[in-house]
Amino acid sequence: MARNNNIHLPKSPLSIANIKKSSRIFRFMSRTDRWYFIIGTFFLALTAAAALLFPKLLGDLVNSASLKIQEKNNANLDKLEQTAIYFVYLFIAQAVFSFLRIALYVRVTENMTYGMRKSLYTSVIYQNMEFFSKNRVGELFSRFSADISQIQDTFTSGIATFLRQLLIIFGGVIYLFFSSTSLALWMLATIPVVVIISLFFGRYIRKISRQVQDFTANNNVIVEETLSGVQNVKAFSNEHFEVDRYSKSAGVLRKESIYRGLLRGSFSSFIIICLFGSFIFLIFQGLTMVRANEIPIGELITFMMLTGFVGGSIAGIAEQFVQIQKTIGAVERVLDIIDTPGEAINDNSIKTDKISGNISIRNLNFSYPSRPGFEVLKDISLELQEGKSLAIVGPSGVGKSTLISLVYRFYEPTHGQIFIGNENYLQMDLFQLRNSMALVPQEIILFGGTIYENILYGNPDATEADVIAAAQKANAHQFIELFPEKYQTIVGDRGIRLSGGQKQRVAIARAILKDPNFLFLDEATSSLDSESERLVQDALEKLMRNRTSIIIAHRLSTIRNADNIAVMKNGKIEEYGDHDSLLKIQNGLYHRMVEQQQEPSEFFQDSEVIHQ
Ligand SMILES: Nc1ncnc2c1ncn2[C@@H]1O[C@H](COP(=O)(O)OP(=O)(O)OP(=O)(O)O)[C@@H](O)[C@H]1O
Ligand SMILES: [Mg+2]
Repeated sequence: MARNNNIHLPKSPLSIANIKKSSRIFRFMSRTDRWYFIIGTFFLALTAAAALLFPKLLGDLVNSASLKIQEKNNANLDKLEQTAIYFVYLFIAQAVFSFLRIALYVRVTENMTYGMRKSLYTSVIYQNMEFFSKNRVGELFSRFSADISQIQDTFTSGIATFLRQLLIIFGGVIYLFFSSTSLALWMLATIPVVVIISLFFGRYIRKISRQVQDFTANNNVIVEETLSGVQNVKAFSNEHFEVDRYSKSAGVLRKESIYRGLLRGSFSSFIIICLFGSFIFLIFQGLTMVRANEIPIGELITFMMLTGFVGGSIAGIAEQFVQIQKTIGAVERVLDIIDTPGEAINDNSIKTDKISGNISIRNLNFSYPSRPGFEVLKDISLELQEGKSLAIVGPSGVGKSTLISLVYRFYEPTHGQIFIGNENYLQMDLFQLRNSMALVPQEIILFGGTIYENILYGNPDATEADVIAAAQKANAHQFIELFPEKYQTIVGDRGIRLSGGQKQRVAIARAILKDPNFLFLDEATSSLDSESERLVQDALEKLMRNRTSIIIAHRLSTIRNADNIAVMKNGKIEEYGDHDSLLKIQNGLYHRMVEQQQEPSEFFQDSEVIHQ
């Protein structure tokens, strides 16, 4: 579905507490950059002052020209030229100040967002799996995209615009009062009022426009859903129902759009009458004063231009205010993630030697943190000797993959312990632990690069010869060599350009390259053709040799080769032992499965087996 990337970021109220919280962002600004920011702000004040001088000079120019016409006075002619020269100076100064301001602000902002991006990514990638099951990827992604760009925009231009407008409003109003108090009072009584009303009006129109957008999206969803599932519509003869649904939704869209049209029309009439009206009114007042010789014509021009600037700034500053509120929200969200401690407690302690030993699982209970009331694993106890293999079989959803996640320490046990060697694995260095393990998951997701890069991921220090040797052991070398680009073949997003069996063999090669002491295989449930299956099976056997392995098996052939077999049911270990001892359990699950010559995936699909 086409998603609107322009997300409406929520705002945070502008309270002292919030500002204080967001000021933590300045830790990403180095000392030098803070000074640059202050110097940039100084240049900003100068550009604002230059902007205010512009109407003043223009007024002077008109004055000297009009006096020249009236009096043909040479002194005034000189003054005209002089003012023109001031104009040139003013523009040059403004150009220089504004260049310096932008250059400094951009530099400071980019340095700061670089630091934030890096810290944010580091923090996210080091989070535990619980964090990822609580935060959806899309949500996290918008921290990197929407929130960071919001911060970037505000620091490069938002704050500058806000300050400039503030200076123009204050400076402008003060100047207006000095030049003519009565006109200034008239101005203050009209322009800000009209501007503020139009702001609220404008905001309401934007709200309605957003609703129109939502209605349009809803309307398109109906088309998309029904066209992509057109077989459903026809199978249930629901064409009439869908036409009805669509026209209702299109009707709502029409009504809302007409309303928005009327609002827009009223808004432009309002602007014409009130805003232009009050300008004309002010000009009229001013001209009356000019005629009475109370002020020169140039002064009136200066006055009207400044009024325009002040009005524009009042309108703009409200928008900047909203942007700053949104930025405070963005800063909070980003910093909250950055300040969430990850699972890697101590990076410096990474030990390179690998752990080995027996795996001993004792009275393990587990519920996922996102579903605390639901116990997935119940009182699991298992012993697996070093170098031996254990096959786990059982129905879908019984907790087989979960058990592996726990041993890999993606999650920690709710109750009970896991010992590796003779040490509780919670006491071990997490990186050292995982460095000693390899996982070939149920659903293999490769990275978008080449086959070579994907295998190398198992051990980035490996040589090309190692990579090829691993691919050979994984029975992947043959098919890789058949591709025109060989190891440099791009696998496509998540590996879509490879078949299921090929992806598995690349994943196995990656695991072989890692040369782990512990191996976890989550056999894919999707069936491969018998040739690929034989190749995958053979590769797995080579990989498992002399390693402590746990395999979640969906094929009898895999199970037969294992030293021990655990049959799981309802989150518990129902039967445990080697092939022969399990066969002896009369009417046991394993016994029946082998007797019926059914593959585990078939056998456990039978709901009677699961629920008896
Ligand atoms: N991240 C998660 N958060 C909450 N519940 C989960 C999560 N992952 C799995 N579950 C639940 O835990 C239970 C066990 O899931 P698990 O993936 O371990 O099953 P499995 O035995 O591997 O099944 P299959 O053979 O289909 O792969 C299921 O009921 C599942 O819905
Ligand atoms: Mg599974």
